[in-house]
Amino acid sequence: MAVLYDPFVWLGEMSGMQRRRRALLARAHGRVLEIGAGTGLNVAHYPADVDDLVLAEPEPGMRRKLARRLRRPAQIVDARAERLPLADSSVDTVVSTLVLCTVADPERALREIARVLRPDGQLLFIEHVRAGTRFHAACQDMLSRPWRGFAGGCMCNRPTLDLLRACGFTVTADDAVWRGMPAIVHPLKIGRATNG
Ligand SMILES: C[S@@+](CC[C@H](N)C(=O)[O-])C[C@H]1O[C@@H](n2cnc3c(N)ncnc32)[C@H](O)[C@@H]1O
Repeated sequence: MAVLYDPFVWLGEMSGMQRRRRALLARAHGRVLEIGAGTGLNVAHYPADVDDLVLAEPEPGMRRKLARRLRRPAQIVDARAERLPLADSSVDTVVSTLVLCTVADPERALREIARVLRPDGQLLFIEHVRAGTRFHAACQDMLSRPWRGFAGGCMCNRPTLDLLRACGFTVTADDAVWRGMPAIVHPLKIGRATNG
């Protein structure tokens, strides 16, 4: 996964994802935690004045690539989103890009995010979600098993925004298309969620 990830998403990054990362992360402030930081495709886009940057990533191969890409002070931690080694109400901004599709227990991860966020904190996200049309969603359901095996556990048919709302988050999001990537990971939702 760590070896193939950057080449696999390269076309998508060049076709708009890089620009979307930059626009989203311009809104990060204070103490920032990124979950599932992967190979570090977000790190160049954080504002220089964030107080503290914690990059959580459970896969050792991904962490090695992340460390090589890092050009700024940041702490890399070995952690899954379901169990974050951070105190309650200690983070201003949590970032999740293309991660909530992959976490094994998304409800638990969302509870952890809610726990570490300060009351006025925010979750910034870019996530692909279950399609809105019946035909497209049925294709995702049919292909979810082989895709999951191919794409490191990614659940292409996960209704992530519904899960966020069910876990008590208030969500605002824009629709987008992850150009340069297969339709199975369309549509994208890009936005912000707050506790309560
Ligand atoms: C599709 S990649 C996205 C990487 C990066 N966030 C990006 O935008 O390019 C998914 C990442 O989530 C990580 N991951 C898998 N299970 C996780 C979990 N339970 N908690 C946090 N991260 C997880 C994977 O190791 C991988 O780095």
